Amino acid sequence: MHLLCTLLALLSLSHGLSPNCPGRCSCDSMQSVQCYRLMEVPSGIPSTTKRLYISHSRIQHLQPSNFTQLLALEDFILVASGTESIENDTFKTLSTLKTLELWKNKLRGVPNALPDNLEVLKLNDNSICVLYGSDFEGLKKLKVLELKNNLISSLSPNMLSSLMSLQRLMVDGNRIESIDGLLTLPHLKHVSMENNKLSHVPGSSLTALQSLQFLSFSGNLLTKIPTNLPKSLLSLKMERNQLKMVRFGDVKHLENLSHLYLSQNFLSSIDGAQLLANLTTLEVSQNQLQMLPLRLPARLQKLDCSSNLIQRVTAQHFQDVRDLKHLFLDNNIVSVFEAGALQRCSQLSNLALEQNLLLSIPLRLPKTLARLDLKGNAIQDIAVRELKDLTQLQVLNLRNNRISALDFRALEGLSRLRHLYLDGNPWNCTCSLLRAREVLKAKGTDVKGGQCAAPAEQQGESWMSSKKIMRQCEHHLHQTEKSKDTRMKSRLEDFSNINMSMDDDDYDYEIY
Ligand SMILES: *[C@@H]1O[C@H](CO)[C@@H](O)[C@H](O)[C@H]1NC(C)=O
Ligand SMILES: *[C@@H]1O[C@H](CO)[C@@H](O)[C@H](O)[C@H]1NC(C)=O
Ligand SMILES: *[C@@H]1O[C@H](CO)[C@@H](O)[C@H](O)[C@H]1NC(C)=O
Ligand SMILES: *[C@@H]1O[C@H](CO)[C@@H](O)[C@H](O)[C@H]1NC(C)=O
Ligand SMILES: *[C@@H]1O[C@H](CO)[C@@H](O)[C@H](O)[C@H]1NC(C)=O
Ligand SMILES: *[C@@H]1O[C@H](CO)[C@@H](O)[C@H](O)[C@H]1NC(C)=O
Repeated sequence: MHLLCTLLALLSLSHGLSPNCPGRCSCDSMQSVQCYRLMEVPSGIPSTTKRLYISHSRIQHLQPSNFTQLLALEDFILVASGTESIENDTFKTLSTLKTLELWKNKLRGVPNALPDNLEVLKLNDNSICVLYGSDFEGLKKLKVLELKNNLISSLSPNMLSSLMSLQRLMVDGNRIESIDGLLTLPHLKHVSMENNKLSHVPGSSLTALQSLQFLSFSGNLLTKIPTNLPKSLLSLKMERNQLKMVRFGDVKHLENLSHLYLSQNFLSSIDGAQLLANLTTLEVSQNQLQMLPLRLPARLQKLDCSSNLIQRVTAQHFQDVRDLKHLFLDNNIVSVFEAGALQRCSQLSNLALEQNLLLSIPLRLPKTLARLDLKGNAIQDIAVRELKDLTQLQVLNLRNNRISALDFRALEGLSRLRHLYLDGNPWNCTCSLLRAREVLKAKGTDVKGGQCAAPAEQQGESWMSSKKIMRQCEHHLHQTEKSKDTRMKSRLEDFSNINMSMDDDDYDYEIY
C-alpha cells in the first residue's frame, strides 16, 4: 500500500513536470489541472483535461480562444483572479461543461451564451447588478445557481423561467427589494435570499414551488411571514427581520415544517405554535418575550428562547412537549422556576439556564439531563436533593454564582459527571470541602476553579489543589477517616500535581 502511494505520487509529480503541463500548474492522472498566480489562461493545457482550477491569479479578460483546445472540459473554476470581462460566446462551444464557477472576481454581468449542459453555475462575490432573461436561456439542465454577494436589486421570476431543473437558488447578500411575479420552478428545493432588502414578499409568489423544502429570508426587513408558502416546506428561516408577531394560522398548512427560526426579531409573545404539528425545532432567541411560548407543538425537540425577558418557568408551558431534548433559556431574567416544571420532558438532555436570576438549583429536574448550565446566577447553597437524581449528568456549570460550600453528598449521585465548573464563587475553604474533593477525584471529574475567598489565610488557594489546605486539614481527616489514612495521603499527593487551568468554557458544550 505504502509502495503504491509512493509510486502514484512519483507518477503525478513527473506528470506535473512533463512538457504537457503548463508552468505554475500541476496536472494529475485524473485529468485535473490546478494553476496559481497566472496572468492569462495558459496555452498548452492537455486537451483531455476534464477539470481546470485556477485561483489567485490576475486574468482580467477571458475570450473564446482560451478554451478552444479544451473539448473535454467538465469543470472550470476561476477564483480570486480579478476577472472583469468575458467576451461574448467564450463558453458557448464547451458542450461538455457541467460546472462553471467564477467567484471572487469583478464580473459585472452573467457571461452570455452559456452551454446547454451546464448543471452548476456559481458567480458569488462579483459586482453583478442586473440579471437579464437572456442570461439563463436554454439552461434546461441547470440545478444550482449561486449569485451571493453581488449588487442585484431586483429579482424577476421571468428571468429564471427557463431553468426547469433548478434545485438550489442562492441570492444572499444582494440588494433585492422585491420579487415581482410568480416563481414556477417544479424542482426548486432550496431558496436562500438572506441579507437583502425585502420588506414585503407577495403571498403568492412562491406558492407554486411544489418541491420547495428549505427557504430562508433571514436578514431582511419583513414584518410578517409571507402567506401561502408552499406546503412542501421543511425549514423556514426568518431571523433578523422586523417581526412583531407571528400568526400561526397563516402557516398552519405547512404540515411538514420541522424547523422554524425566528431569532432576532421584535416578538413580545408567541402563542399557537402547536398548529405546526411536525415542528421539531423552534428558535426565538433575542426577541422581547416576557413569557415562554404558550401551546408548544407536541413533537418539539429543541426550543431556544435565550436572550429574552422571561421571568418564570412553570409546568404549564411544558405539559405536552415530551420529546424535548434541548432547552435554551440562558440570558433571561428567570427568578421563578417551579419545582418539577420539566418533569414531563422525559428526553431532556441539555438545559441552559446561565445568566439568569436563580437563587437555587431548580428542584426535580428530569433525570435524563446530560448538561446543566447555571453559570452567572445568584445561587448560594446547593442542597443534596437538587442534584441527587441527575445520574446522567456529564457537565455541570456553576461558574460565577455565590456558592461557598459544597456538601459531598450532593455529588455522590452524579455518577457520570465529567466536567464541573466552580470558578467565580466565594469558596469558604473549610476542611469539609476536602470530602467533596475526594468524591470528585474518585469519579475522575475534571474540575475548573475552587479558589478560596475565606478564611483569610487560605485566600488565593484552591481547594481542589492546595497542599497548604491539605496539610492543615490533615488533623481533620485523621479524625474522620482514620482507617483510610495512608491511602488518602498518597491520593492527596496526586491532587497537588494537577494543574487547574482557567480557560473559558467553550468546551462545556462537548458532551461525550
Ligand atoms: C487567453 O486570453 C488572453 C487574454 O486574456 C490572451 O492574451 C491569450 O493569448 C489567450 N490565450 C490563448 C491560448 O488563447
Ligand atoms: C455581445 O452580445 C450582445 C448580445 O448578446 C450584443 O448586444 C453585444 O453587442 C455583443 N458584444 C460584442 C462585442 O460583440
Ligand atoms: C409531507 O411529508 C410526507 C412524508 O415525507 C410526504 O409524503 C408528503 O407528501 C409531504 N407533504 C407535502 C405537502 O409535501
Ligand atoms: C406531519 O403530520 C401529519 C399529521 O399531523 C402527518 O400525517 C405527516 O405524515 C407528518 N409529516 C411528517 C414528515 O412527519
Ligand atoms: C466559613 O465556614 C466556617 C465554618 O463553617 C464559618 O465559621 C465561617 O463563618 C465561614 N466563613 C464565611 C466567610 O462564610
Ligand atoms: C503546571 O504548570 C506549571 C507552569 O504553569 C508547569 O511548570 C508544570 O510542569 C505543570 N505541572 C503539571 C503536572 O502539568
